[in-house]
Amino acid sequence: MSSKFHNKILLGVTGGIAAYKSADLVRRLRDAGAEVRVVMSPGALAFITPLTFQAVSGNPVHTQLLDEAAEAGMGHIELARWADQVLVAPATANFIARLAQGLADDLLSTICLATTAPVALAPAMNQKMWSHPATCANCATLELRGVRLIGPASGAQACGETGPGRMVEPSELVKVLATLRESVLAGRHVLVTAGPTYEDIDPVRFIGNRSSGRMGFAIAQAARDAGARVSLVAGPVALETPPGVERTDVRSAREMRDVALDLAVSADVFISVAAVADYRPARPAAQKLKKGLPKQKIELVANPDIVAEVAALEHGPLTVGFAAETEKLKEHALQKLSRKSLDMIAANRVGQAGSGFDSDQNEILLITPSGEQNLGKGSKRKLAQLLIEAVASRLKDEEFENRSDKNNRPATGN
Ligand code: PMT
Repeated sequence: MSSKFHNKILLGVTGGIAAYKSADLVRRLRDAGAEVRVVMSPGALAFITPLTFQAVSGNPVHTQLLDEAAEAGMGHIELARWADQVLVAPATANFIARLAQGLADDLLSTICLATTAPVALAPAMNQKMWSHPATCANCATLELRGVRLIGPASGAQACGETGPGRMVEPSELVKVLATLRESVLAGRHVLVTAGPTYEDIDPVRFIGNRSSGRMGFAIAQAARDAGARVSLVAGPVALETPPGVERTDVRSAREMRDVALDLAVSADVFISVAAVADYRPARPAAQKLKKGLPKQKIELVANPDIVAEVAALEHGPLTVGFAAETEKLKEHALQKLSRKSLDMIAANRVGQAGSGFDSDQNEILLITPSGEQNLGKGSKRKLAQLLIEAVASRLKDEEFENRSDKNNRPATGN
């Protein structure tokens, strides 16, 4: 493989049988051009000796948090600062749980808290431990904080069982790390809207929708992982901000429009994932509406179409819309692509279990004026990564770079 690593990788090894593969991983990372320093957890010492890692890495191996000799040389803070990338492989269920809790009771967990370098984990454990709700919750917490999970792979396990929980093979781990380093959106500014908008009827009631914000937050995180500066404009949602993402909270469509338009001027990409209310009450009542009338009429007026306004900017960003459809998915998405003059539209079904609103899963058909790409079914996290890859390759596209004709391209729908 060609040298993609001119960086410093801190490899954490924790106590699982897959630790024996980590020696091969060190060798492969060095072959790919990386400088590698190994930190072993106390548990890892039961599986493999520091001497092995010292021999393959060409560097002293670090095992103790409170080691006078180490503190004088490469202590935990120095190691945390030294690393361009932290990779923990294998990462046991216990280590994942401790990291999710923010514990810093050994050298490796302390480094993970102290570093500003990206942290990736290659989980390895028994398949039942991997699918235990506690491990799932810990992994979800870490992913929200920007920790990247690579694997696990599925197959025969050392314990005699079969299923997901095997550490991803060293050759694969090296490939994945190489792609992480590619930072396909480095230097780009990506603007994402997410969640619903609330349109007030009176001081206690509003018109809203079922959007949880998960799809938009996953996209913000994937864009950040790809090296972009990310601005996230969020409607009312109960989600943690992905680390490194600049978030502005809004309530109504008009608030979202004002913030998004301000930010769009400096953005390279705008991804409009928010489920923006198309209408709002014309005159929200100043006081709580009283019951008693047999009928209550609420006059609605149209909200601004945020994505269409951004797409119409003269030197605006590459603009990606979402189409939430209950029927005629492609036909309706094509109409929106054309009517709103978008560069791409991600069509997804709503109103059914397992995709769209308030689910961890989705299914996306990505449509451009010149073609389509089925991103398939999967977790919103995975689909967000695929969408960001598609956006990055579109940005690279020379035709788009010289898009003097952006606002004159032929319409594809009606
Ligand atoms: O938030 P989750 O629970 O994870 O659910 C994700 C999602 C289903 C909300 C998301 O995947 C999605 O489909 N988002 C778009 C929802 C929507 O409003 O779709 P639409 O077909 O009504 O609008 C088309 C496009 O115009 C969208 O990009 C929308 O952001 C934009 N729009 C719509 C109205 C408006 N006034 N301004 C807009 O910018």
